Amino acid sequence: MRIHYRLMESRDVPGVFKVDQACFSHNWTEDSYKAETNNILSNYIVAELDGEIIGFGGFWQVIDEAHITNIAVLAAYRQTGVGQNIINAMLALALEQGCVAMTLEVRADNQPAINFYLKNQFTRQGRRKDYYGTGMDGIIMWRYKLE
Ligand SMILES: CC(C)(COP(=O)(O)OP(=O)(O)OC[C@H]1O[C@@H](n2cnc3c(N)ncnc32)[C@H](O)[C@@H]1OP(=O)(O)O)[C@@H](O)C(=O)NCCC(=O)NCCS
Repeated sequence: MRIHYRLMESRDVPGVFKVDQACFSHNWTEDSYKAETNNILSNYIVAELDGEIIGFGGFWQVIDEAHITNIAVLAAYRQTGVGQNIINAMLALALEQGCVAMTLEVRADNQPAINFYLKNQFTRQGRRKDYYGTGMDGIIMWRYKLE
């Protein structure tokens, strides 16, 4: 598989939206991804295979902190290292832009994603009750060193 990892461009928005639709139960709109391409705080990496977006990840840079918005890989391509390559690219970009830490919220019952972040040196630092709806808490995770 020859997968290309690069910054998201406005032409990628339909593909990124498709991945969002396939991977999340709380979806963003296509317009919100379009807006991300004009948001100076936003940084998105896409994984492209033969012209198709198969995964993406993004963060907002707030002063010197990188806040992950979304990261997703189409189910058919999971557990093959695509997510790892996306987060590696996000970490490198965040570091290059002067960020000193990275954070995110993840659903408390999303064990694959929690494992993914634990493997990437994120640690559990808090919990937001009902963050994803009644009975669906969000776990706050941080990685304090990006190097
Ligand atoms: C989380 C997600 C992006 C991981 O992407 P991926 O391409 O499958 O991840 P990788 O293959 O690069 O795996 C990297 C590491 O993550 C962990 N991991 C990934 N999937 C896992 C699973 N299903 N179960 C347990 N650990 C898992 C492992 O530690 C893995 O390392 P290893 O292969 O050495 O064991 C993917 O599962 C996904 O898109 N999930 C749906 C969307 C989502 O929940 N996003 C997170 C929102 S906060």
